[in-house]
Amino acid sequence: MDAAPLTPLIARRGGPLQGRVRVPGDKSISHRALILGAMTVGKTEISGLLEGEDVLNTAAAMRALGASVERIGDKQWRVHGVGVGGFAQPSGALDFGNAGTGSRLVLGAVAGCPIRATFDGDASLRKRPMRRILDPLEKMGARVIEQAEGGRLPLTLQGAADPVPISYESPVPSAQLKSAVLLAGLAAPGETTVIEAEATRDHTERLLKHFGAKISSKPYGDHGRRIVLQGQPELEPANVVVPADPSSAAFPMVAALIVPGSELILEAVMTNPLRTGLFKTLLEMGASIEMIEKRDDGGEEVADLRVKTSALKGVDVPPERAPSMIDEYLILAVAAAFAQGTTRMRGLKELRVKESDRLEATAEMLRVNGVDVAIEGDDLIVNGKGTVPGGGEVKTHMDHRIAMSALMMGLASEQPVRIDDSAFIATSFPDFVRLMRSLGADIS
Ligand code: S3P
Repeated sequence: MDAAPLTPLIARRGGPLQGRVRVPGDKSISHRALILGAMTVGKTEISGLLEGEDVLNTAAAMRALGASVERIGDKQWRVHGVGVGGFAQPSGALDFGNAGTGSRLVLGAVAGCPIRATFDGDASLRKRPMRRILDPLEKMGARVIEQAEGGRLPLTLQGAADPVPISYESPVPSAQLKSAVLLAGLAAPGETTVIEAEATRDHTERLLKHFGAKISSKPYGDHGRRIVLQGQPELEPANVVVPADPSSAAFPMVAALIVPGSELILEAVMTNPLRTGLFKTLLEMGASIEMIEKRDDGGEEVADLRVKTSALKGVDVPPERAPSMIDEYLILAVAAAFAQGTTRMRGLKELRVKESDRLEATAEMLRVNGVDVAIEGDDLIVNGKGTVPGGGEVKTHMDHRIAMSALMMGLASEQPVRIDDSAFIATSFPDFVRLMRSLGADIS
C-alpha cells in the first residue's frame, strides 16, 4: 500500500445532507471480538463486524495464530478459537497494516503464549511507540527478541511459557495498553491488575465479562479506574453484536451540523459513556443532536441520533475529556472552524502518536484552508469565524481520519477542499464516500 499511486479526492459545497444511515461497526469492538473469539475454545459468531482493512488484518493474524476465522455473510463472521494460551507459532510475520489497535492487542495476546511471532505494519505503524506496550509485557515474562529503534515495529516477541500476573499503573491513558496487559493476564495464574489515572474505553472489560471471565472495574481517584482480572478462566464462546462506531458517525454528524439545511438520522450509534466526549462537546457548542430510541445492544448502549444544522459557538474542552474523544479532535476542529469564537482543546499530547502527528496535521489541515489556528503546548486553539475559505490541498499523512475530516470541511467551505490521498479511509470506513454521496455530499 505504501507505494501505491495516490488517490486524491475533492469535496465541494452543495445542497443539504439528508437521510438515514448506519455507519459501519465499531473498530475497537471488532478487533476485540475477533481476538477474544480466537482465545476461546468453540464457536463465536460476530455480526456487524467492521470489514475495514485494520480489522481484516487482525482476522488474518488470528488465522495465522491457529484460529479458524471465516466470513459467513455480509459483516457476519464465525471464529473457532484455540483457547487461552493456545496460539500456534505463525509461519510468517503478522502484518497489521495501519492498525495500532490490532498490533498492540495481539502483542498482549501473544505475550501469554509460549510462541515466537514477528509483528510488522506499514510506514505509519512502524513510526508509532510500542515500548509502552512492551514494558508491562516484559514484566509478565515475554521477551523482545528483535525490534526496530525504540522498540518499534518490525519486532519479534517471544511469549512467556509461564506468564506472571502483575499490577500495572498505566503511565499513559491508553485503552490499547490496558487491553494488552489484560489479554496477557488471561494466561497468567492469579490476579492481573491495571490501574489507570484516566478511564479509557472499556470494551475489553465488557467483552471479557461477556465471554465469562471474572473481571471487576472500580473507580480510582478523580477520573480513573482499577481493573482486576482473574487469570486462566475457561472462556465460553459468546456471540457478539457490533454496534455502529461513534468515531465514524462523527464525520456525517459534523457535516450535517455545518452544511446548511441538513437533517440526518444516524442509526444504532454506540453511546458508551467512555466514547461520547465529542457528542458532549458538540452539545455544549450548541449542536442540535437528539438521542432517540436508546437501547442496549449486546452489552453496549446504542441510540439513533437525529442531527440538524446548527449555529455553533466556540468552547473550552477540558483535558480530562480527551480519553473519551481521542479520535474525534480532528473532526471537532472542523466544527470549531465553522463556529463563532474560540475553541480551545486542552491536553492533546497523545494526538502526536496516532496514525500521524494529529496535532500538527490538524493545524495544517485548517491553516491551508484559511482557518486561524494555533498550537500552544499540548493545546489546539481554533478561532472560528462561522465560515471557512477552503481552497487548500490537505496532506493526509497515511491517516484515515485526516482524510475524512478534510472532506467534511470541503462540504461547507467557500472553495472546494482537496485531499492528496483517500486510500487510507478504507482502514476504518470502507464505504465512506458512497455513504456520504447517498446523503447528498459532492465528493469526486
Ligand atoms: C483504541 C484506543 C485508542 C484509539 C484507537 C482505538 C482501542 O488508542 O485512539 O483508535 O481500540 O483501544 P490508545 O490506546 O493509543 O489511546
